[in-house]
Amino acid sequence: MKRLLIVAHTPSVNTQALCGAVLRGAKHEDIEAVECTVKTPFEAGPADILACDGIVLGTTENLGYMSGALKDFFDRSYYRVLAEKQGLPCALYIRAGHDGTGTQRAVESIITGLRWRWVQAPLTLRGEWQEAFIDQAEELGMTMAAGLDNGLF
Ligand SMILES: Cc1cc2nc3c(=O)[nH]c(=O)nc-3n(C[C@H](O)[C@H](O)[C@H](O)COP(=O)(O)O)c2cc1C
Repeated sequence: MKRLLIVAHTPSVNTQALCGAVLRGAKHEDIEAVECTVKTPFEAGPADILACDGIVLGTTENLGYMSGALKDFFDRSYYRVLAEKQGLPCALYIRAGHDGTGTQRAVESIITGLRWRWVQAPLTLRGEWQEAFIDQAEELGMTMAAGLDNGLF
């Protein structure tokens, strides 16, 4: 079994729905050997990263940056996982009211430092809420889990 960790900040109904969609995608019936764990950044820590084979990160953009919760998760985990998890497949979605670029830049810079591997470009769900965001989040979860399942990453 491969282990997928989803670490998502979910302060609103919409962001909870996005996290649920990522999980639904990752649990698609065609995916056989991937076990999923979902945690908020407050709950997750370095032991979760050390135990996973792939990670999906989800955050809101707040004040031009990732959520403080996700930043705290990185602060608590960075040096504890740096040596062991280089190459970890990762993906990111950002829920942003109107921008998202500051968050993307900041997370990219941390991921570069950690030497994790992007499985797809960061997904920014920007602007007024759209139901289509749910499909995009679901697809992201499916892409990550299918890749792990097939041994692609
Ligand atoms: C304090 C605060 C700061 C925010 N700052 C930004 C920001 O800098 N850029 C942005 O695109 N959206 C910003 N937003 C909007 C949030 O990203 C958005 O409300 C959040 O993702 C939840 O989305 P939802 O309304 O679809 O649940 C901010 C929201 C709050 C509450």
